[in-house]
Amino acid sequence: MQTVSGKTVLRQAVAGWRAAGERVAIVPTMGSLHGGHLSLVETARRIADRVVATIFVNPTQFGPGEDYAVYPRSLDSDADKLAAAGADLLFAPSVAAVYPFGIEQATRVIVPGMTERLCGASRPGHFDGVTSVVARLFALVQPDVAVFGQKDFQQQLVIRRMVEDLGLPIEVAVAPIVREADGLAMSSRNAYLGTDERQAATAIYQVLTAAAEEVRCGNRDFAAIEENAASKLAKSVSRVEYLAIRRADDLAPPQTGSGQLVVLAAALIGKVRLIDNVLVDIG
Ligand code: PAF
Repeated sequence: MQTVSGKTVLRQAVAGWRAAGERVAIVPTMGSLHGGHLSLVETARRIADRVVATIFVNPTQFGPGEDYAVYPRSLDSDADKLAAAGADLLFAPSVAAVYPFGIEQATRVIVPGMTERLCGASRPGHFDGVTSVVARLFALVQPDVAVFGQKDFQQQLVIRRMVEDLGLPIEVAVAPIVREADGLAMSSRNAYLGTDERQAATAIYQVLTAAAEEVRCGNRDFAAIEENAASKLAKSVSRVEYLAIRRADDLAPPQTGSGQLVVLAAALIGKVRLIDNVLVDIG
């Protein structure tokens, strides 16, 4: 696997593959890779001929007081993991390469509406940073397909909307959540958890699956399920940011009809913010 930080070498590599008729996938990450990220690379390998993984801790998606400065960075071991997972190229650019006019003067891509609720309500501006950087990575790599994880459920929907709205010729694929043996969704931020916090974190998936099960069994009093689940979760975590049952295709509150729903939560355990979700079909 080749590791590159410059746009010219990146473009040459991708142009060579494209000229040979190969389908190129991008797996955007912020590094500190775990099994969830590596499953995205595996998905990309199945659906494309070449896989470009990117590692870029994007300053514009962190709010003031969030963990940008201390976000775990481990480029060398990440590169080894990506090579073992079968990525063809690692693109690890500098902040100046991604934002050549500086962050303040950078062109931004904003998806209104669905970015303002759930994670967007608790992290104002977060998704503007995500879409702005993903649009740049798409422009640099020019992939045929992009692979994101279901764990960041709202993120993948926002990116789908951006791709559709801008008419980008990129397919968006979503890979399922990879969990630890006790159900906790893999996340780079799990590394911040102390022993007791790590134990408390298991409540998130337990509460989400119980709420999803109630919906699956026919309970349509979504507000009551949300309230009950949030108060159960509050017993284990420091703060429940949200616990919500939403339509899986647009995150609107569900009607009693049919379709796929998603039960999502964000919670703080100490200072560590974790998110998770569980899909549920209601026929
Ligand atoms: O999901 C992430 O790791 C980031 O939000 C992404 C998509 C790499 C953009 O910085």
